[in-house]
Amino acid sequence: MEDTRVAVVTGSNKGIGLAIVRGLCSEFDGCVYLTARDEGRGMEAVEALQEEGLSVRFHQLDIDDEESIAAFKTHIEDTYGGLDVLVNNAAIAYKAAATEPFGEQAENSIRINFFGTLALCRSLFPLLRPHARVVTMSSFVAFLPRVNGDEPQAFNLREKLSSEELTEEELCDLMNQFVETAKDGTWTEAGWQSSAYSVSKVGVTALTRVQQRAFDDDPREDLIVNCCNPGAVVTDMSSHKGAFTVEQGAECPIYLALLPPDTEEPKGAYVWHDKQVVDWVKGPLPSPY
Ligand SMILES: NC(=O)c1ccc[n+]([C@@H]2O[C@H](COP(=O)([O-])OP(=O)(O)OC[C@H]3O[C@@H](n4cnc5c(N)ncnc54)[C@H](OP(=O)(O)O)[C@@H]3O)[C@@H](O)[C@H]2O)c1
Repeated sequence: MEDTRVAVVTGSNKGIGLAIVRGLCSEFDGCVYLTARDEGRGMEAVEALQEEGLSVRFHQLDIDDEESIAAFKTHIEDTYGGLDVLVNNAAIAYKAAATEPFGEQAENSIRINFFGTLALCRSLFPLLRPHARVVTMSSFVAFLPRVNGDEPQAFNLREKLSSEELTEEELCDLMNQFVETAKDGTWTEAGWQSSAYSVSKVGVTALTRVQQRAFDDDPREDLIVNCCNPGAVVTDMSSHKGAFTVEQGAECPIYLALLPPDTEEPKGAYVWHDKQVVDWVKGPLPSPY
């Protein structure tokens, strides 16, 4: 068993994830895992970092594949016996011009971005060591008042999503309900917005709050999970439109991954790219994105 601290970043062969790995390689005291669903793309990114003189490890990890998650968990458990930092960065987004039916977009976005992230957390959380830090990539589009409309159904949804009593199971039901209504064409009446990506990011933001409540009751000391809005970042996902470079987009997730022991705040929070804690339910927002 190797006696070292371990950090893992999902979907880190490119974009903000790769910039998070690069930053952690310099700032994290331990070994850093670049992971990718495609081994070829992952190894290419690893070689580029090695050419920069950085020391990084690689493992295949597809958050949409139970076997891949299980194999990764076994690798981390057998090699290190624990995990200190997990950055849930992997996600997909359909382009505005996508022609796939909305039901299909909803199913794939929620399955990968919400249920894939949840499946990885459920698998790896038992390995978290005291003082572990978990960071999940949310977005400015996930700000709760921004996502749903003024109809009573939307109001009810917001109440459920932001309830202090919301459970993981109830949140999963809400995400499944969104997919069902997206398929039968009733998502607007049900109170949901017409962006599957936004709903998936609302899901992981609500999940962060539920997970921190569980961490607060966990016998392991000082477990913290936060989610963050990295800003509008120039990547493939944003079709290379945005205000920030990937290095700027990586600043807040790196800060959250490296929160020192016994931090009081942020905890279970929605954190803006400038590191301000934002009230996810009421705001105000420090900036539009
Ligand atoms: N860019 C922005 O303006 C912005 C704004 C707010 C939030 N975010 C969030 O920031 C994070 C990174 O976004 P980005 O802009 O860097 O996107 P990106 O350039 O499209 O990178 C996404 C990464 O996720 C990986 N991925 C997708 N599905 C996966 C799966 N099933 N398993 C493992 N990896 C998977 C992709 O792998 P492949 O290369 O194999 O596709 C890629 O490495 C995302 O969570 C995104 O929602 C981005």
